[in-house]
Amino acid sequence: MTDKILVLGASGQIGTDLIMQLRLDYGNDNVVASDIKKPVDFILNSGPFEEINVLDENRLLEVVKKYKITQVYHLVAMLSATGEKFPAAGWKLNMDSLFSVLNMAKDGLLKKVYWPSSIASFGPTTPRTNTAQYTIMDPGTVYGISKLSGELWCDYYHKKYGVDVRSVRYPGLISYKTQPGGGTTDYAVDIFHQALKTNSYECFLAENTVLPMMYMPDAIKATIGIMEAPSEDVKIRTSYNLSAFSFDPKTLADKIKSQLPNFNISYAIDSRNDIALSWPQSMDDSRARKDWAWQHDYDLDAMVKDMLENLSKE
Ligand code: SER
Repeated sequence: MTDKILVLGASGQIGTDLIMQLRLDYGNDNVVASDIKKPVDFILNSGPFEEINVLDENRLLEVVKKYKITQVYHLVAMLSATGEKFPAAGWKLNMDSLFSVLNMAKDGLLKKVYWPSSIASFGPTTPRTNTAQYTIMDPGTVYGISKLSGELWCDYYHKKYGVDVRSVRYPGLISYKTQPGGGTTDYAVDIFHQALKTNSYECFLAENTVLPMMYMPDAIKATIGIMEAPSEDVKIRTSYNLSAFSFDPKTLADKIKSQLPNFNISYAIDSRNDIALSWPQSMDDSRARKDWAWQHDYDLDAMVKDMLENLSKE
C-alpha cells in the first residue's frame, strides 16, 4: 500500500521544498499539504491542501482519518527569536502539537512520524566546535528548551510505546523558495534578497559569529533519507546531529561580494547575537553518516552560487 503523507507546516520554509520533493517521490495525491496559512501557488495547484491549526487536535484527527494518513512530517514551530517574545505561546505551540502527533502514532493511526530538532537544543556550556552527538545540552531559549524536551519525548514514545519517530537537528537552513520567519539564522537568507534588491544588508549578528548552516536541498535529502531508512538503522531516537558547512556573516558577505561587487554589509547587532553565541559553531554528524548513510552535497560556494542564480530569475 502506498504511504499517505501529511505535512504540517507546509507553507513554511522547509515545508515548501519538502512537499514538492515528496510529491515527486510518492505521487501528488498521496502528499497532503497543511498549514494555518495558504501555501504558495505551486503547492496549492499540485495536490491536496487542508487548512489546519495544529492546536486543534480534532481537526488534525479529521484530516488524518479523511486521507488515511500513514506518515506525518511535523514541521510547525515557533522559532528562536519569536519564541523569546512569546514564551508561553511558543512552548504551547511547539509541545502540544508534538504530543498530538505522537499520541496518534501511539494509538496506531500513524506508522511513522518525522519531527525536526535543531542546533538550538544545545546551550552556552555545550562545547561549540565539532559538537558531539552526546554532550552537555542546556538550551537557553524557549525554542531550544522545546526542542530538547521534544527530543526526549520522541525517544520516550519510541522506547515505551514503539512509536517510529525520527528526527535530525537541523543547522540554519538556507533556501530561495520561501523565507524563514522568526529565527536567529534567518539573516543568511535575507542577506541574499537584500543584496539583489538594494546591494546592501544590515546584519543583526556580529561579523564573526559563526553558525553551522545547510542548503535546503541537503536538508530535504536528510529528512526524506532518515524517513526512508530501515527502522533498525535509525538507532538514535532523540535526534541526529546533521552538518554541512559553517560561516560567519563577514565570510558570507565576502562570497556575495565576489559575485556582486557593489554589495555592502553593515551591522546593527541585537539580542539574536546572544542566542547565536549560545549555539554550536559546527557539529559532528558522524552518527548520521554511519547509521543511515547521510552525506551532504552542497558546500558554501555551491550554495551561494545556486542562491544567487535562482533569486536573480525572480
Ligand atoms: N533556524 C532556527 C532559528 O534560528 C534554529 O533551528 O531559530
